[in-house]
Amino acid sequence: MRLQGKVAIITGAGNGMGEADALLFAKEGAKVVVNDINQDVIDAVVKKIKDAKGEAMGFKADVTNRTEVDAMVAETISRYGKVDILVSNAGWDQLKPFLHTDRAFWDKIFGLNLIAHLNVVQAVLPNMLKNKYGKIVTIGSDAGRTGNPMEAPYSAAKGGVISFTKTIAREFGRANITANCVCPGITEGTRLSKEMLEAVPDQALKMLETVRKVTPMGRLAQPEDVAKAVLFFASDDSSFVTGQVLSTSGGLATP
Ligand SMILES: NC(=O)c1ccc[n+]([C@@H]2O[C@H](COP(=O)([O-])OP(=O)(O)OC[C@H]3O[C@@H](n4cnc5c(N)ncnc54)[C@H](O)[C@@H]3O)[C@@H](O)[C@H]2O)c1
Repeated sequence: MRLQGKVAIITGAGNGMGEADALLFAKEGAKVVVNDINQDVIDAVVKKIKDAKGEAMGFKADVTNRTEVDAMVAETISRYGKVDILVSNAGWDQLKPFLHTDRAFWDKIFGLNLIAHLNVVQAVLPNMLKNKYGKIVTIGSDAGRTGNPMEAPYSAAKGGVISFTKTIAREFGRANITANCVCPGITEGTRLSKEMLEAVPDQALKMLETVRKVTPMGRLAQPEDVAKAVLFFASDDSSFVTGQVLSTSGGLATP
């Protein structure tokens, strides 16, 4: 088991890729803190982990709220003694032409998709520094690497996540803390892909089909595909890998 004895906080772990990370990490022996803003989905994921004989606790916190984030980190240390791994995963977007977006929308997108990452990373770093051990994995997006129409503010925020992660890697490498960024492309079975299908069913189906066609591996990602890349950066398999960006989009975005 690759995470035996490790303590991992995963944000936005009630659905989609965060849930897949939580289930995989527990299977690999980690004690998992399942964070979300929605208590029902937290309870469901904690139950799945416990039913499979894994160890998990739920913690409802809005990652854009620093007080709530600090309370989550304090509770994790009180219950499990330390934080070894952070997967800063919570994120959200709504596809909109740039000219139809406004400052309120930009603030919402930046609050969750950029500032929240700074919140959780800054909150876990003191414990990681004390322990001289830390694995930080941020979830970016290929939109942050290549840009994507209808996702201008989100792409800008995710580009910020990538450079933030590289900076944390450079600033904290000597303390044996690694920071890497996983960049998914469109991933099936997530709330974002479901919301897209519900909002504009015809266009979304067409778009998904086009992406499938131009993806070298000929299919869309599943949350479990992404979780395996996150596990690599969260485990000691990546002991000398830091400041790196890895796309999990079947070859759609190449460096
Ligand atoms: N779905 C995709 O196709 C896709 C593509 C590229 C990148 N991403 C990124 O991958 C990550 C995971 O996305 P997903 O599609 O699996 O998401 P999802 O919507 O399926 O799940 C995200 C979870 O985060 C929770 N959440 C939302 N706001 C929160 C907050 N303020 N505090 C705590 N939890 C919060 C939600 O309740 C939800 O359970 C995100 O960072 C997203 O931007 C997704």
